[in-house]
Amino acid sequence: MNNTADTVTITNNNSGDTVTLPLMRGTKGPDVIDIRRLYAEFGCFTYDPGFTSTASCDSKITYIDGGEGVLLHGGYPIDQLAEKADFLEVCYLLLFGELPNAEEFSRYSESVTRHTMLHDQLASLLKGFRRDAHPMAVMVGVVGALSAFYHDKLDIFDPEQRRMASIRLVAKMPTIAAMAYKYTIGQPFVHPSNSLSYAENFLRMTFAVPAEPYINSPVLSRAMNRIFVLHADHEQNASTSTVRLAGSSQANPYAVISAGISSLWGPAHGGANEAVLKMLEEIGSKDRIEEFLRRAKDKNDPFRLMGFGHRVYKNHDPRARVLKESAEEVLTELGVRDDPLFALAMELEQIALDDDYFIEKKLFPNVDFYSGIILKAMGFPTSMFTVLFAVARTAGWVAQWNEMSGDTGQKIGRPRQLYVGELQRNFVPLDAR
Ligand code: ACO
Repeated sequence: MNNTADTVTITNNNSGDTVTLPLMRGTKGPDVIDIRRLYAEFGCFTYDPGFTSTASCDSKITYIDGGEGVLLHGGYPIDQLAEKADFLEVCYLLLFGELPNAEEFSRYSESVTRHTMLHDQLASLLKGFRRDAHPMAVMVGVVGALSAFYHDKLDIFDPEQRRMASIRLVAKMPTIAAMAYKYTIGQPFVHPSNSLSYAENFLRMTFAVPAEPYINSPVLSRAMNRIFVLHADHEQNASTSTVRLAGSSQANPYAVISAGISSLWGPAHGGANEAVLKMLEEIGSKDRIEEFLRRAKDKNDPFRLMGFGHRVYKNHDPRARVLKESAEEVLTELGVRDDPLFALAMELEQIALDDDYFIEKKLFPNVDFYSGIILKAMGFPTSMFTVLFAVARTAGWVAQWNEMSGDTGQKIGRPRQLYVGELQRNFVPLDAR
């Protein structure tokens, strides 16, 4: 492969054919070879399972430098946003590309709070689930069902209608999530309260009961807000790529976001903080850490240290540090600073960070390592962890979907494949096989 300043030339060593392809340059990050003409001019596809070297789109929303541990939304570093911004400011930033001024923020917040309630029929639909259904299953179903409520009013090529769908989704997700939780524990649903912040309102809908007044804790709301901000977007991860792929057929956005929720559910993605907590409980005590580290390093053992490693971050996950801080604040506020799981997590983190295997493979704690501890201390059951991630990531999903749908050059997603199956053969009737 030969590089000149703005092109790359590829030679097929068998046939001697060459093709010169343009290089695309972003505002930051590696150049990207534009291979769109490759098949037409060279007769080859590229092979990249897991998209480890493939840019599927261009985007202005989020920038990640995994080597340096950098995550920017609209150019703003994630730790500044996590420490200083309200989640709805970040939603606005992702959707419109700029932080809102005071007036814009007030208008946007009001539009969101005006859409937090659900159609009553959705509550009936939710009540059709088994009480022991996983809340992520309920989320997939109920968010998908929103498509049946808003299908007629949606022209995805109209920016105003896309804005409305994005606001509705951001507004209704916490209500659906809290209802999914209340339903599994048999408590009545708590309606949203428009005078509260996004995080406060969510905590109230989740934990308030009609029998006594609900007292908001600023420390817990701050931590909840921070968890939402830290999980709001992460460029083209599995669930966001699912949203873009599903949305590329111009499907109904509520159905599209439901597809994103399905993708997020997996333990290698959004299910990891649930898996971290299970792992810590399984390890049980500090004297068993070495045994589990040995297993994590053993090629013949499928066990992996959950909450460690990341497809993109190979230095540190900038979200993990801020969350460790929040874990300390929340546990102190709740009077459980000496929580044994937290102590075990800190010890495990230190031992792994000093271990040659983890150093060589550049494996560091990711955002999920401490989030489970915080959420558990707040009173969320582990099955709700991924649900909270889905509430937060809806901000990124709708922003990415909106960006894609507004791009006039956008095409339906349709990857190619390397076929390794049988050559053509004739059908043999059942009784002759
Ligand atoms: N424990 C032990 N070894 C690990 C771990 C781990 N957590 N993560 C990666 N490795 C090893 C792999 O075995 C592999 O070793 P090899 O080179 O000898 O084959 C090497 O490190 C590279 O790992 P890959 O799986 O190729 O890295 P990839 O980028 O594909 O995977 C992933 C990233 C899936 C996150 C992985 O690190 C993992 O499974 N971590 C645990 C699950 C987890 O915490 N997921 C949350 C991700 S963050 C999020 O979704 C918000």
